[in-house]
Amino acid sequence: MARSSTVHVCASCGHEEPRWHGRCPGCAEWNTLVEEPRGRAAPARGGASVPVPVALGDVSAPGIPRLASGIGELDRVLGGGIVPGSVVLIGGAPGIGKSTLTNMVLGNLAEAGHRTLYVSGEESTAQIALRAQRLPGAALSVPAVAETDLETVVAIIERERPEVCVIDSVQTLDARELTGAPGSVGQVREVAARIVGVAKRQRVAVLLVGHVTKDGALAGPRVLEHLVDCVLAFEGERERSYRTLRATKNRFGSTNEAGVFEMRQGGLVEVLDASARFVKAATGAPGSVVLAAMEGSRPLLVEVQALVTPSELVPPRRVVNGLDRNRLALVLAVLTRHGGVPLGGSDVFVNVVGGVRIDEPGADLAVALAVASAARGVALGSTDARAPLAAFGELGLTGELRWVGHPERRIAEARKFGLDPVIAPCGTEATEVATLRAALAAASGSAIEPRLARAAAA
Ligand code: TYD
Ligand code: MG
Repeated sequence: MARSSTVHVCASCGHEEPRWHGRCPGCAEWNTLVEEPRGRAAPARGGASVPVPVALGDVSAPGIPRLASGIGELDRVLGGGIVPGSVVLIGGAPGIGKSTLTNMVLGNLAEAGHRTLYVSGEESTAQIALRAQRLPGAALSVPAVAETDLETVVAIIERERPEVCVIDSVQTLDARELTGAPGSVGQVREVAARIVGVAKRQRVAVLLVGHVTKDGALAGPRVLEHLVDCVLAFEGERERSYRTLRATKNRFGSTNEAGVFEMRQGGLVEVLDASARFVKAATGAPGSVVLAAMEGSRPLLVEVQALVTPSELVPPRRVVNGLDRNRLALVLAVLTRHGGVPLGGSDVFVNVVGGVRIDEPGADLAVALAVASAARGVALGSTDARAPLAAFGELGLTGELRWVGHPERRIAEARKFGLDPVIAPCGTEATEVATLRAALAAASGSAIEPRLARAAAA
């Protein structure tokens, strides 16, 4: 009988089986068998070629050369540009703009005289060309190929020897020797490993596009993240125009940077004055609070809006855009328990305006204030100028307000745009409050607190 070219290896105990089993015969764990090509382990080398360790001080480590992608926000997130031979995984939900961004990058690089290649397993060359027609610069001069077979893609890269190559997407390529469907765990891992191999061998920088699941995780195995040099997350609400790009792993730079983009008719445009735009649009109405957030090392002001209405449903609705759902549940619980704002019979909607996604605990206080303001129908902030109020800080489960990173930068950004007051945890130079209750009082002058007192008394 012909030996199959693949084995199924248990991700938990390493047990090998020729065929797939739902339950590992080795350790009895469920769904742990992953298909792999047979004999992936490298054979041991002969004694002569075994490398000798070198003291790190004797290693020559020249500065890392970089290719400018022509998109400042992307270069900044990458730590100064694309590193030759590096593999960057760009994850994002469908329709967020991954193909647009990567095509624009290649266009800029082609214009600067670099060899580029766009490999798509998702779209025909006609579809890619239609998109490129809408994009600025030299997007149309990028050589493209529509191909899903992994072997063929590797052969094309080896023949064309581009300096920068886009592969769109890792889930659509098919490693033929594996029987699993493209996009399955074993397939995605094999595709990524082969692509990383050819990138390092030929010093091709690869932008590897990856899909994410509904809850934001990179579809396929986390092991992808270990294989590549950088992982970028492209996020935002699809129907809205703003998107953020941030690094969650970066071997050649920090993971503290984030970029803001807007999807327009002619492709993605960098947004350099994001705070100004969001503050200008802030309504200052009941339920509106400006959050002084950090996007990486940059402060960003965004408007958080809340709506609280009587609910007909049990349990009532909790709808959130741009924030973590579980975090909202925590904030609402603390608000009910320690802020005296009853929400059990109300639907609560919370939205970060503009489609930006905020992923930091510093958002808690602004969310709590927005919901309290909406629940009471009372606008926050100074009554005279109607300048919106700004807030930041993490809520603890006992109703205390906790310190978060970079308070001075957040406060400076809020002051720059005339926001007053800035309600923040102790240890900062703003309106300092130690608890959620104190924050509610400070936020409204006297608008919320007497009602709270009444509610507490009732
Ligand atoms: P796309 O890059 O195809 O998303 P992804 O590869 O992440 O799935 O683009 C997504 C959306 O962007 C698509 O709905 C059309 C829109 N779009 C614009 O609004 N303006 C443009 O110039 C382009 C090219 C796309
Ligand atoms: Mg795409």
